[in-house]
Amino acid sequence: MDKIVSKITSGLKGEIVIPSDKSISHRAIMFSSLAKGKTKISNFSRGADCHSTLKVFSQLGIEHEFLSEQELILISNGKLKAPTKDLNCGNSGTTMRLVSGILAGQNFDSVLFGDESLSKRPMKRVIEPLSLMGAKIDSNEFKAPLKIYGQNLRGIEYNSKLASAQVKSCVLLAGLHADGETIFTEPYVSRDHTERMLKYLGADIQYDGAKTTIKRSELTAHDISICGDISSATFFIVAGLIVPNSDFVIKNVGLNPTRTGILDVVKMMGGDVEILDKKLVSNEEVGDLRVKTSDLRACEISGSLIPRLIDELPVIAVLATQAEGTTVIKDAQDLRNKESDRITAVVKELRKFGADIDETPDGFIINGKTPLKGNCELDTYHDHRLAMSMYVAGLISENPVKINEFQWVDISFPEFETLVNKLIEH
Ligand code: S3P
Repeated sequence: MDKIVSKITSGLKGEIVIPSDKSISHRAIMFSSLAKGKTKISNFSRGADCHSTLKVFSQLGIEHEFLSEQELILISNGKLKAPTKDLNCGNSGTTMRLVSGILAGQNFDSVLFGDESLSKRPMKRVIEPLSLMGAKIDSNEFKAPLKIYGQNLRGIEYNSKLASAQVKSCVLLAGLHADGETIFTEPYVSRDHTERMLKYLGADIQYDGAKTTIKRSELTAHDISICGDISSATFFIVAGLIVPNSDFVIKNVGLNPTRTGILDVVKMMGGDVEILDKKLVSNEEVGDLRVKTSDLRACEISGSLIPRLIDELPVIAVLATQAEGTTVIKDAQDLRNKESDRITAVVKELRKFGADIDETPDGFIINGKTPLKGNCELDTYHDHRLAMSMYVAGLISENPVKINEFQWVDISFPEFETLVNKLIEH
C-alpha cells in the first residue's frame, strides 16, 4: 500500500492516547505463559509482532481468550507443550530471540523461523550464550531458522559485549530454567522490562544497573496492564517539535528510565516537552507528555544513551535535520542489524528529501537546519520504523512525498495514521 504524505499547514493540536508498548506486550504473553494461573492482560498491542508471539505460545499449548480487541485472559499451568509445527516469528526479532531462551531448556525440540527480514538478522548473539549454558541449536550460519533441541541447562556468568535487551532477556529466560545461578552483565544498561516483569511475577532475580542475577524460579500469574509505547510516542514527539504551530498532549506514555533517551535528546536540543503526570503501573513508570513546536540545536548522541533510544534513531535523524548545527550520532552500529540496515536506509531516504546527512560505520552526521523539499518516492525496506520516520519527514516537506509499502507500519503501530489525523483535524 503506497501512501502520499503532504505538508501540514495548520499545526498539530489536541490530545492522543499512545497505544500499547510492543516490548512489554511480548513479555506479558511470554511470561504469563510460564506462570501458573490465570492472567488478565490489558491494553495488549494490536501490532503484528506481538500477535506473532501470541500465536507461538498458542502452538506451545497455552490457551487464551480475548475479552475485547486489546484485553485477553491467558491460562497456564506454567508448562509448555511440544509444538506439532514449526513456530513462525514473522518479522519479530524479540519473539525469536527471547523464545529461543525459553525453548532451549524445555524437554522437547522445536524450530523457530521468520520472514525475509528476520531470516537475515544475526542470531549468533543468542546462540553463543545459550550454547555455553548447554543448549543445542542448529542454525543457517547463525541465522534463522533455528532448530532447538531441548536440554538441561546450567547457569553461567556472561559478560555481553552488546548492550541488548533481547540478548539479556534470552539469557535470563534460559536462566529461569537452568541449574545454579545465571549472571548477565552488559556494557550499558538496556531496557529492563524483563527484569521488572519477572520480579513482578515472583522470580528470584536481582538487578542493579548493568548486572542481573537470576536463579531457577516458578512464576505466579498476576494481571498485567500495559502502558503506551515511548518508541511509538517518539514519532509524535518529533512531529510536534518540527511541525510549526503544534501544541498537543500524548497520554499514557511508558517512562521507564531505560527507554527515555529521547527525552534527554529533546532536552539537549532545547525542545519543549513537558512531563505532566507520572505514576507506576504494573511496575513501569507512565506519564503524559505535552509537546510544543520548538527551535532546536544540534547535539551529540552516543555511549550509554544509545540503548535507551535505539529504536528512535531513524526519527531522531529526521529531527536533527531541523536542528541548527551538526548532530553526531555514534556507537550505534547495531542499528545495521535491525529490521533493515537503518543507517544506510535512513541516509539514502533522507537524502531524497534534500537533507544534509552522512553515513558513518556506527551512526550519522547531520547538518541542519535544512528545508526538506520532498517531491520524491521513498522505500520502507520491510521496516515499520522507516515507514513512520519518512511519514514524519513528509509532514514538513515543501512538496508531497510518496511512501512505498507503507503497510509495514502495522508491525508495531497500526493506529499511527489515525492518530496523526486526529491531531491534524483537532
Ligand atoms: C527490544 C530490544 C531492542 C529493540 C527492539 C525491542 C526488546 O533490541 O531494538 O525493538 O523488546 O527487548 P536489541 O536488544 O537487539 O537492541
